[in-house]
Amino acid sequence: TFATLKEVLDKAKAEKYAVGAFNINNLEITKAIAGAAKAERSPVILAVSPSAIKYAGIDYIYEIACCAAKNAKVPVVLHLDHGTSFDDCVKCIRNGWSSVMYDGSKLPLEENIAMTKKIVEFAHAAGVSVEAELGRLAGVEGHVSVSERDAIFTNPDEAKMFVEQTGVDALAVAIGTSHGAFKFKGEANLDFERLDKIQKLVNIPIVLHGASGVPKEVLDRAAKYGAKLPGAAGVPNDSIQKAIGLGVAKINIDTDIRLAMTAAIREVLAEKPDEFDPRKILGPAEDAMREVAIGKMRLFESSGKA
Ligand code: G3H
Ligand code: 13P
Ligand code: NA
Ligand code: ZN
Repeated sequence: TFATLKEVLDKAKAEKYAVGAFNINNLEITKAIAGAAKAERSPVILAVSPSAIKYAGIDYIYEIACCAAKNAKVPVVLHLDHGTSFDDCVKCIRNGWSSVMYDGSKLPLEENIAMTKKIVEFAHAAGVSVEAELGRLAGVEGHVSVSERDAIFTNPDEAKMFVEQTGVDALAVAIGTSHGAFKFKGEANLDFERLDKIQKLVNIPIVLHGASGVPKEVLDRAAKYGAKLPGAAGVPNDSIQKAIGLGVAKINIDTDIRLAMTAAIREVLAEKPDEFDPRKILGPAEDAMREVAIGKMRLFESSGKA
């Protein structure tokens, strides 16, 4: 059985560490994440996006996640990442998920509140946790002026009201991170002052999306074997540690796992042109992803907390 997001994050918040939420799409990624959690004795969140469900099939991905949880013997949360409708959330709740994210961040505030509240009522009645999002993650590049920040990032007073009115279990905030491998032009620049204001006003665990580090070693390995990702840049490790100190208890990672997988596959294909056994191609990729996940669990200080 899966742990709820609330159980796992309330403990993390109280003990000042963060739990990684890793996106899963197939067997190898799931085994890599669960293997890392088992090796590190770390709680873990398996995050499944609507497009992952479409890709893998809801029944397949659910069963793979069940096996992963059984094997890992640590608290494992099965979480819907970026659900965008009541139906997305209901479908996952009916299919055994222990947590859902409803992302109404693109909606006007009142509509986001109303829909989130409706999903919280449905989910809580089923014993399922809910994460919601306030503020916009996309499209922040380079230097952002104060007025631009106020327009895009999470407003602390709205966050307080949002949490009180909806009853959500965790809140994703926008403080300058974004999804994917191209987060910053130049230096990373997160609004920690805003995060601190939010954590002082909001009493639930805070979630950081778009938190991949896009590390140079992985980019170099990928580039060596043909990848072309000029300008890729992520969130530095010291910014992650600072964010955890300011109340972030769930950290979403997808890009770093994608990059590690792709780099490892490229390496095998380039170094062994006679290899065509998929297990010999995907096995090293699984190992590379497991190492990345282990590194994150240590960085987030969730290692040993299961
Ligand atoms: O934020 C989105 C996650 O990285 C999942 O991406 O929708 O391509 O599965 P996806
Ligand atoms: P990254 O693209 O930085 O890995 O973020 C993933 C994420 O936020 C998934 O919800
Ligand atoms: Na999520
Ligand atoms: Zn996200």
